Amino acid sequence: MFPKETYIQRRSALKQKVGSGLILFLGNEECGMNYRDNVYNFRQDSSFLYYFGIDAASLHAVIDVDNDQEIIFGDELTIDDIIWTGPKEPLTEKAYKAGIQSVKPGSAIAGFLGSAKTAGQTIHFLPPYRGEHYLKLQEWLQVAPSAAASLASVPLIKAIVSMRSIKTAEEILEIEKAVNTSVDMHLEFMRITKPGMTEKQVAGQLQSIAIGRGGDISYPIILTVNGEILHTHTRDLVMRDGQLSLCDAGAETAMHYCGDLTRTVPTGKKFTALQKEMYEIVLHAEETAIAAAKPGVLFKDLHTLASTKLLEGLKSVGIIKGDPAEAVAHDVHTLFFQCGLGHMMGMDVHDMENLGEQYVGYTDELKKGTAFGWKSLRLGRALEPGFVVTIEPGLYFIPTLIDRWKAENKLSQFIDYNKLESFRDFTGIRIEDDIVITSDGNRVLGKPLAKSVSEIEALRA
Ligand code: GLY
Ligand code: MN
Repeated sequence: MFPKETYIQRRSALKQKVGSGLILFLGNEECGMNYRDNVYNFRQDSSFLYYFGIDAASLHAVIDVDNDQEIIFGDELTIDDIIWTGPKEPLTEKAYKAGIQSVKPGSAIAGFLGSAKTAGQTIHFLPPYRGEHYLKLQEWLQVAPSAAASLASVPLIKAIVSMRSIKTAEEILEIEKAVNTSVDMHLEFMRITKPGMTEKQVAGQLQSIAIGRGGDISYPIILTVNGEILHTHTRDLVMRDGQLSLCDAGAETAMHYCGDLTRTVPTGKKFTALQKEMYEIVLHAEETAIAAAKPGVLFKDLHTLASTKLLEGLKSVGIIKGDPAEAVAHDVHTLFFQCGLGHMMGMDVHDMENLGEQYVGYTDELKKGTAFGWKSLRLGRALEPGFVVTIEPGLYFIPTLIDRWKAENKLSQFIDYNKLESFRDFTGIRIEDDIVITSDGNRVLGKPLAKSVSEIEALRA
């Protein structure tokens, strides 16, 4: 945990921003994989962690803004629990470390919320994302599961987004720790990958690094020779010489701050001439976007900039015709770059995504797009000092999508479909780094990680 002053200050700022009512935080429960006691790795809710810091299951918290009260609801271990878990720090101690004096039994929350409701207090809660969140909201506040998301408090969401978006120095240190572990995972990826191994064999070794550092992976590792499949988690293929291997992997620290990096390397020792040419197109797009990231710049415009660089590169290999900027204005890039340039990163790898992408990545004036490609851009708004974001352009040759567009002769004034045919099995390339926006630009987080063709080939040799 951070020092208790951090949590006290965060709650105090939240109270100011929300202004009135009662704020309910639903901590997470243990989750059985195949029966109740055989559990998945416990993951606390990130907003609960942000304001209370306690990384333990079956807790709830209330900030009663109207009556200036902060309470944690939860139970101390019984002797029956201790037999299985061993003794643990008492909940009152944990609460004390978060600056909370008032701890009440878990069973008391229903009555407490019932009284607040009867007294006419507004009860603010966040959008639910786990089954038990819906059940609790139904039981305690009589909110029907089908209505729970739409009844979540917009003032609370906006207040939390405004705070969690700006990372403090102590948070950046944690994030950088996560990125450094992520760098080591990628160095291992570049060290051990070789033809004949399965994707799973490599991914398993990378996950062990994240766990060994005291945390875990920040999302399921994407490790594939089919890099065009954006989020594939099947890792059954045997990797072959001549293929590209894409690794999108990140660690989170014990305090649950995340890293998120991607590198694409030859499965053998060297890129082919075409792979090298294509890799350098993506690298140029990534480096151009990073160089342009600074306060005041719309992330949406960085996405357009990177997309233009990708199409300029595809023009040089003969796939694109005409003016690349005009092609981007017609959304031609979405045939090759179907997702977004990046996202916020913090205690969630897609930070605060459970609070709603419109609130996290956009503003009341700037709405998230709905068109293919643009609907997958999680972040569009102007960058501010303290934002931590990923920059992750890619080129993805998805045969099913190419066939669909070709059958429609879609945007054929910009696309040479005959030339494109020879790329249908090219697969995909993504390069991703994590940056923090500073007062006048940005800084790439973490230790340097091989990125140029020569650096990667030197490591692969
Ligand atoms: N690293 C996975 C993603 O950004 O979606
Ligand atoms: Mn990412």
